[in-house]
Amino acid sequence: MNYSEKVMDHFTNPRNVGEIENADGIGEVGNAKCGDIMKMYLKIDGDVITDVKFKTFGCGAAVATSSMATEMIKGKTINEALQLTNKAVMEALDGLPPVKVHCSVLAEQAVKAALTDYYKKQGVDPEPIVGMIPDCEDCHE
Ligand code: FES
Repeated sequence: MNYSEKVMDHFTNPRNVGEIENADGIGEVGNAKCGDIMKMYLKIDGDVITDVKFKTFGCGAAVATSSMATEMIKGKTINEALQLTNKAVMEALDGLPPVKVHCSVLAEQAVKAALTDYYKKQGVDPEPIVGMIPDCEDCHE
């Protein structure tokens, strides 16, 4: 399978791997297509995501897309993070082989799940803000 240099870089040297103690939002999602899982931790100050870490039991493409996704939302506002799509993450990685597109959805789902958890903890209904968490049916292939 042909992976771009950026995918290989993020796979062999993933950024922001780990957990955040006392995270403000934690999202855990599973990939409907392969059963792999991903956990994302957010630290939020005001409306800025000040720190983000992830752990995945996913394949190399899931590791690379999550690594890139965390880089793309760190230091950004919640609103900006909510705009993140798996397509944007894939573009930032110079693409993924078609059979691996579904892996990139894990990262987008995990960000949204963590923000849903954040709003729930604040006593705010997350759905009008975060919306539904996309599943593989919504993969932007
Ligand atoms: Fe499961 Fe890639 S095969 S996340």
